Amino acid sequence: MRVRKNVWRLPAGDQTLLWYGKAVAAMKERAPTDPLSWHYQAAMHGIRPLPAAMKQFWGQCQHGSGFFLPWHRMYLLRFEQIVAAHVKAAGGPEWSLPYWDYSVPEHRALPPAFREPASPLFVAQRGQGWNGGRQLVEEAVDLQSLGQVGDDFFGDEQPAHSGNEPGALELTPHNAVHASIGGWMGDPDTAAADPIFWLHHCNIDRLWDVWLKRDPENNKNPTAALWLDGVKFAFHDDKAQAVAMTSRQILAGLDYSYEDISDPFGNAAGFAAPGAPRPAMSKAARELVGSTAQPVTLGETAQDVHVATPITPAQFRAAASPAAFIAPDAKAHQLVHKVWLRLEHVTSTAVCPTYDVLVHGKRVGRIAMFGIAQASDPDGEHGGAGQNFSLDITRVYHELFDQQVIDPDKLEVSFAPVEPAANATVTVGRIGLYFA
Ligand code: C2O
Repeated sequence: MRVRKNVWRLPAGDQTLLWYGKAVAAMKERAPTDPLSWHYQAAMHGIRPLPAAMKQFWGQCQHGSGFFLPWHRMYLLRFEQIVAAHVKAAGGPEWSLPYWDYSVPEHRALPPAFREPASPLFVAQRGQGWNGGRQLVEEAVDLQSLGQVGDDFFGDEQPAHSGNEPGALELTPHNAVHASIGGWMGDPDTAAADPIFWLHHCNIDRLWDVWLKRDPENNKNPTAALWLDGVKFAFHDDKAQAVAMTSRQILAGLDYSYEDISDPFGNAAGFAAPGAPRPAMSKAARELVGSTAQPVTLGETAQDVHVATPITPAQFRAAASPAAFIAPDAKAHQLVHKVWLRLEHVTSTAVCPTYDVLVHGKRVGRIAMFGIAQASDPDGEHGGAGQNFSLDITRVYHELFDQQVIDPDKLEVSFAPVEPAANATVTVGRIGLYFA
């Protein structure tokens, strides 16, 4: 069984990246219409404009969808197989894709080989500073998502190329890392042309395994027939033959393992301990308890928004459990089990605008809008409906409510732009507060 290794921990003298570079160079020499070429592989993720004749294979990446994780796993498997074949053809050893584990503070810069201008792994089109050793910030790589279950972890049930609603892992660190590196990585139509894309996705794929392993009681893959067998995605093998794959096919019996899938938190406080029963609250069962009345425009400066919340936690509980006695001094967690802040029908023409979101001054997460321009395009897949983003703000909400910081009839939400693209304007149709 092949082992996918941590790129920052490869032993001295290891040749994984050297061979990766040689394979990338060989792939770049092939014609764009050749499935084994660099251009073709990147175009399978996204390309603008998408040539009609290539629709079956190009522009297929699944985002804002529960197919995000399985589709990218299939894509990595086929890509890795193709790179390995190039390596072998050039006389190299067995090759497997390494991963970029940016959870380790010392490993948050691009590995040096990607920053050498002479290397085929170098890309000039990256955000400022990345080729000089800039590092990802904590907010971009935080792993709160590993504490989520069900559709909070996976995102929307329907397949989608761009749009709907990303799951927690897709939002952060996935989207946030794309946004941070910027350049080609900031746009789904160019992202896979940066060789670092594949190491980033290898880590996201690994984190899926980490999540499954850290809490098998609560963390389970979807069981819906649509997710398991309902959609077949088209790829090519290392002989350029077309192959179709379903999610079920990539859940077991894979020919690789990861060097490390241990729980990054151990028993760190603040994260639901593995195995502790968690209320199975599906997003589908949540209730809107407050919202903005008008669309909100976010720009390049920080902005405060008041979300009117006509339904208080006590009223919510009284309606949800009419027979229950509610003590006047009940704590927030007794009244509301889960709290989400949701940005709905978000549209923008900018590439990957990114905001840190705060509730009454406390940070609740980062929203990096990877693919927002495509999702906002009126001629696109969803007619320009844009994207939705949910943040689970339960912990902060409980804390602030119990400290009586939260105003009974409005929630103070702030958006702090993170390196906004020039003239970025984002329209949020509605900001909603949801309880379950
Ligand atoms: Cu399909 Cu990280 O993108």
